[in-house]
Amino acid sequence: MSQGAEESFKKVISHAKEYGFVFQSSEIYDGLSSVYDYGPNGALLKNNIKNYWWRSMVQLNDNVVGIDSAIFMHPDVWRASGHIDAFNDPLIDNKDSKKRYRADVLVEDYAEKLFQKAEKEIKKAALRFGDSFDSELYRKTNTRVLEYEKKAKTILSRFSKALSNNNLSEARQVIIDEKIKCPVSGSSNWTDVRQFNLMFGTKIGSVAEGANDLFLRPETAQGIFVNFLNVFKTSRMKIPFGIAQVGKAFRNEIVARQFIFRMREFEQMEMQFFIMPGSEMKWFDHWKKVRMNWHESLGFNPKNYRYHNHEKLAHYADAAADIEYNFPFGFKELEGIHSRTDFDLKQHSQHSGKKLQVFDPVSNENFTPSVIETSIGLDRMFLSVLSECLKEETLKDGTLRTVLQLPHSLAPNQAAILPLLKKDKLPECAKKIYDQLKFNFQLIFDEKDAIGKRYRRQDAIGTPICITVDHQSLIDNTVTVRDRDSMGQNRVEIKDLSNIIKNTTSVEALLKKV
Ligand code: GAP
Repeated sequence: MSQGAEESFKKVISHAKEYGFVFQSSEIYDGLSSVYDYGPNGALLKNNIKNYWWRSMVQLNDNVVGIDSAIFMHPDVWRASGHIDAFNDPLIDNKDSKKRYRADVLVEDYAEKLFQKAEKEIKKAALRFGDSFDSELYRKTNTRVLEYEKKAKTILSRFSKALSNNNLSEARQVIIDEKIKCPVSGSSNWTDVRQFNLMFGTKIGSVAEGANDLFLRPETAQGIFVNFLNVFKTSRMKIPFGIAQVGKAFRNEIVARQFIFRMREFEQMEMQFFIMPGSEMKWFDHWKKVRMNWHESLGFNPKNYRYHNHEKLAHYADAAADIEYNFPFGFKELEGIHSRTDFDLKQHSQHSGKKLQVFDPVSNENFTPSVIETSIGLDRMFLSVLSECLKEETLKDGTLRTVLQLPHSLAPNQAAILPLLKKDKLPECAKKIYDQLKFNFQLIFDEKDAIGKRYRRQDAIGTPICITVDHQSLIDNTVTVRDRDSMGQNRVEIKDLSNIIKNTTSVEALLKKV
């Protein structure tokens, strides 16, 4: 990570803590690694992101329904899904630093550096040649750029082939041949690569009754697959249709890092779309576009998103692409779109002995639907939103302002009600307004400190509107409304506030862009 990127990432993390968005779990006991809690503003922001996703999926699509399945599932689910045998990470240790790494992450980071070197060459040339520079032509013809890109792609594909063939010594050899070094010790003194299963085990029932071994679900998707027939029979859906859900997932990430990017307990927002076999690529492309659109609807910099098509496929997929976001530490997976074929339904049919099929009136036959999955990490989405929206502005008077420029409808609080002074009946008037509006809006009431300081605090937590009650309010029932982004202020009538907040912060405008 460059020094600038590291600085901006540190700012995101300290801002998240200082303003009650994210805390380390069990902090007073020195914390639990890679587990985090969401504070008052974090919980509100997270709920708003979740709500935006849910409404985009379930409310906007008449062929998608939502469920909420349990975290505990029958242990055979994980045998059928392949997670017991194949849900592994390849790990490698550096003998000098004694640090443990995911071998795939080491190789991907190394390849990413080569891609970045190619980008640097292109940027340098653009500066040299000025306006007439054709970057795409340069990318296709410059030998140094071509060499960097070719090398990166060759390494990735060699490594991915080694893993697909479960050839762990070849996977290690890639790291040795490329002289990939441990970021801590700087040496290439590596152990063998070993596979490590990521599922957390637990038990259900007392020992006397004969306890059963269970797993904490590593993805929410299996709760959808095992309920496929229940939902199909009860919701009057027909193929193609989708089942969506939001819920916790657990993975024993050995090399957990990067704040809430890679956690051991996290939340997923997943949707399985059940389709006719043979239409996989049509729906795969469809959902790739729809999901990218959803991200773009937030109005963030489009250059911070890109697709990454997978070379190495999960055990259940025949095609997969990530939507990557340019986090402060570089482009990384934010969401996965997977063509899961009929793998899961067939596996569950086999292991449960229940036929998970539907009837096709055209061919007069039963068939097992194929599945396109969209799967996004809620916490990763949260991190991308914080990283994108946290801005530092230098104002005209030279002072610095920290502002969280969240899309208005995602902001933790829709408006802040602020009496100008804590006297002269201004707090009472402000409280009355708060009490009228609180039934429809998430509000903050704050009467402490000077008004300028309070505005800055609301800017820092992304509140789109500040409503200030002053002496004039007592005379003519008007207040000032301050806009977070322009800092402009307008005098408006108290009776119009409800409409103003609604128009500024309603999620409708966002949903219409999806
Ligand atoms: N059902 C498919 C599935 O689980 P995945 O690519 O392993 O696919 C989907 O995970 C999404 O879940 C990822 O794109 C990421 O956003 C999120 N995710 C996965 N592991 C995570 C972790 N350890 N911490 C936070 N988010 C994670």
